[in-house]
Amino acid sequence: ASVIKNDLEKVLLTKEEIQDKIKELAAQIDADYKGKDLLVVGVLKGAVMVMADLLRAMESHITMDWMAVSSYGSGTQSSGVVRILKDLDTDLMGRDVLIVEDIIDSGLTLSWMKANFESRGPASVEICTLLRKPDAAKSDLDVKYVGFDIPNEFVVGFGLDFAEKYRNLDCIGTLAPHVYQ
Ligand code: PRP
Ligand code: MN
Ligand code: MG
Repeated sequence: ASVIKNDLEKVLLTKEEIQDKIKELAAQIDADYKGKDLLVVGVLKGAVMVMADLLRAMESHITMDWMAVSSYGSGTQSSGVVRILKDLDTDLMGRDVLIVEDIIDSGLTLSWMKANFESRGPASVEICTLLRKPDAAKSDLDVKYVGFDIPNEFVVGFGLDFAEKYRNLDCIGTLAPHVYQ
């Protein structure tokens, strides 16, 4: 197999920058949920890497669950209507829930998910994302924990894919033009 880093045009966030930020977020979350019984929900598949590192950087007890969703709608524009491919195993009634994402782009996926979770009777629902793009930053989606606000560029790595590849990069960057051809 060829070396995946060779396909990057530029590195936006290094392994060290990502890990430092994840440690900061973990400490904040530990402090905010002190004494509570937190349920952390990762959104498959992009959030796998953030979940793995964030949860290991935390010192409190947590429980973990996963949700897989797919956006309906034709073409590249998401309709904001989401279909559940794998639902939670956990009953949210009375629970403090933290949804973890790799990136929020339009914010449509998470707006739908947050409303869906809130209809299940939880004590609270908050969101943590490693990356956020400008459209989501401008929207009224309330995201409590944001790692980095990034420009509107297509990025891969650390869970983020291009045609299902590049998720296993330990850094985040943009792809070189030859990759698209
Ligand atoms: C990506 C990303 C977020 C979502 C953000 O997932 O991981 O889940 O899109 O987009 P939005 O804010 O515009 O709704 P994708 O649907 O590519 O699935 P994946 O995580 O399996 O790659
Ligand atoms: Mn995703
Ligand atoms: Mg994807």
